[in-house]
Amino acid sequence: MSNQVFTQFGHDPLALFTTWMDEARDSEVNDPEAICLATADKDGRPSARMVLLKGISEAGFKFHTNINSQKGQDMLANPHVSFCLYWKSTRKQIRVSGQVCSVPDSESDEYFTTRPRARAVGAWASQQSQPFEHEEDLAKAVAFYDDEFKETDTIPRPDYWKGFLIIPDSIEFWIGNEDRLHTRFIYRKDDKGAWDAGWLYP
Ligand SMILES: Cc1cc2nc3c(=O)[nH]c(=O)nc-3n(C[C@H](O)[C@H](O)[C@H](O)COP(=O)(O)O)c2cc1C
Repeated sequence: MSNQVFTQFGHDPLALFTTWMDEARDSEVNDPEAICLATADKDGRPSARMVLLKGISEAGFKFHTNINSQKGQDMLANPHVSFCLYWKSTRKQIRVSGQVCSVPDSESDEYFTTRPRARAVGAWASQQSQPFEHEEDLAKAVAFYDDEFKETDTIPRPDYWKGFLIIPDSIEFWIGNEDRLHTRFIYRKDDKGAWDAGWLYP
């Protein structure tokens, strides 16, 4: 693998991810933190959907969801996940692969308290990914929990609403170039957990 990538883009792909994210926060119309998260069920059948990144650190990438949802069940059966994001404003793509684990309950609790009240009520009212019969059932569930928590300042986190951390083993970066071939390079963790890096043909 070539050290040219290190020279041009640094040794730390998480720092580079953060730099690109900061750039996108200034230029994207909305949701620069939206990622397309792919999971696979126990039989290897993939499915993908958007979630919002809620933390980038040395440890990995954090997001929150309902463990009873399809993705939640997939992740319990198979911790291997991948996500990609593409910012149209900067014409940059990042692809991450790794394993997912749930974050400590205290961290999930802390995040949940930052959610606006309506979203906290929504987390209680929505049995995410489950079918329901009548369109008004959702509004009824929202009204029920709104009333249930009317005396409560800080709505507690439902047990099934959790934070997850994606611990990356590879992070691939892509830059769209108008007048020449696109730039593509990948960081991979070696056996000792150190990052190696190299170019990929676009
Ligand atoms: C921009 C965007 C952000 C979203 N963020 C989240 C999120 O952070 N967590 C979540 O559970 N669902 C989020 N959703 C909804 C999911 O895409 C999805 O519909 C839902 O989680 C159910 O997915 P599943 O049935 O595959 O589990 C988001 C959707 C969009 C379009």
